[in-house]
Amino acid sequence: MNKIFPKHFLWGGALAANQVEGAWQEDGKGISTSDMLPKGIFSDPVKSRDGVSSIKDVAIDFYHRYPQDISLFAEMGFTCLRVSIAWSRIFPNGDENEPNEAGMAWYDKLFDELLQHNIQPLVTLSHYEMPWGLVENYGGWGNRKVITFFERYARTMFTRYQHKVKMWLTFNEINMSLHAPLTGVGLQKGCSKADIYQAIHHQLVASGMAVKLCHEIIPDAKIGNMLLGGLTYPLTCKPADVFTTLQDNRQWQFFGDVQCRGRYPGYMMRYFRENDIVLEIAPEDDEALSNTVDFISFSYYMTGCVTADSGLVEKLKGNVLDMVPNPHLESSEWGWQIDPLGLRTLLNVLWDRYQKPLFIVENGLGAQDQPDTTGEINDDYRINYLNEHLVQVEEAIEDGVEVMGYTSWGPIDIISASKAEVTKRYGFIYVDLQQDGTGTLNRSRKKSFYWYQQVIATCGASLKR
Ligand code: BG6
Repeated sequence: MNKIFPKHFLWGGALAANQVEGAWQEDGKGISTSDMLPKGIFSDPVKSRDGVSSIKDVAIDFYHRYPQDISLFAEMGFTCLRVSIAWSRIFPNGDENEPNEAGMAWYDKLFDELLQHNIQPLVTLSHYEMPWGLVENYGGWGNRKVITFFERYARTMFTRYQHKVKMWLTFNEINMSLHAPLTGVGLQKGCSKADIYQAIHHQLVASGMAVKLCHEIIPDAKIGNMLLGGLTYPLTCKPADVFTTLQDNRQWQFFGDVQCRGRYPGYMMRYFRENDIVLEIAPEDDEALSNTVDFISFSYYMTGCVTADSGLVEKLKGNVLDMVPNPHLESSEWGWQIDPLGLRTLLNVLWDRYQKPLFIVENGLGAQDQPDTTGEINDDYRINYLNEHLVQVEEAIEDGVEVMGYTSWGPIDIISASKAEVTKRYGFIYVDLQQDGTGTLNRSRKKSFYWYQQVIATCGASLKR
């Protein structure tokens, strides 16, 4: 018997403001951390944007072309689109008392357009960006005051869009701060582990406050967290490798543990003790943390391995997260190891751990697409990748895991986060934009566009098993 996805399953794609919108200085927008990182989240920030340009300044010009893009998403049958709000469009420096009306009006138009096409918005409050003013003038999330600024921003967003947006996420890949502190928590080079965890504490408190506010202001809304699902396997069955892997996974699970259980886990308290990390926790923080999320969302691209042998780690580490490669897996052009079954494992791990609904809000293959002589893009590699991952989602649903939906990453080509590359394409829709900024920005359908359209129309029955 064919297993198929439940009827209420949400199908769609996921975008982030700073990777698609462009219009980086339009309608009163302030400068964000992303604007100060023209070469991507793993580069050093520029000192000033004077005379410096970035491919993200225009990006794919979603700010002006969103009606056309949304109609293409609707043509594929999307029932959900994950987008993010650029905080710096609403509070340009982060610390204003009043929001920027022009910025809010644009998101009104965006949500209206989606709703007219029966596409539910799933909105991330902060996706890899914050107003640069909060970094420069306050030291980012290292400063408790930023909690208050975020609270004001979140309250403003829930109030303004309460009738349009019923699904929210707080911070994108909240665990990524450990690897990219400027992007995650607005901390500059030279910050210590203790600084990072203090900033993370403030962000976790802010996330809990946002959950509470959302429930108060929009009682029929659901709000989730967002984790980078960085599942790792032991490199061997040596007990030391197995235990080191358990600890390695806890580095990202810690965030989910706090956001789903409402308090710090014991293993983390031990880690802080043994590493001389003394967090400043205000008396009211416990209450804020106790506001747990309604569902868990996560990104999934790859898995990696862990070994207790530190010499071997140094020798083997490679990709952005410095994971040890798995000898049994193939890699993408960018060295991300492809592991569809790992998605089923991760879904089961998260379900067993939290028993909360799960939402896969990012998954996809970054590849260099080449139009053929007729101008068509036959991206069978992308179709295979997505097909294999979706089959594993279906298996997880059969395992009893509650999965709310699937939004593939970058349903239209966007600017990549790691290195601000447009040559790393994820989309079902091709955008005529080259790395040097040339191109018409015209949109065209790839082969995968029709494939995904079919998957959605048949609720997964067309997948090759
Ligand atoms: C996730 C981020 O880490 O991975 C996205 O939430 C990002 O913003 C995506 O784009 C893929 O990474 P990259 O570097 O290929 O864009």
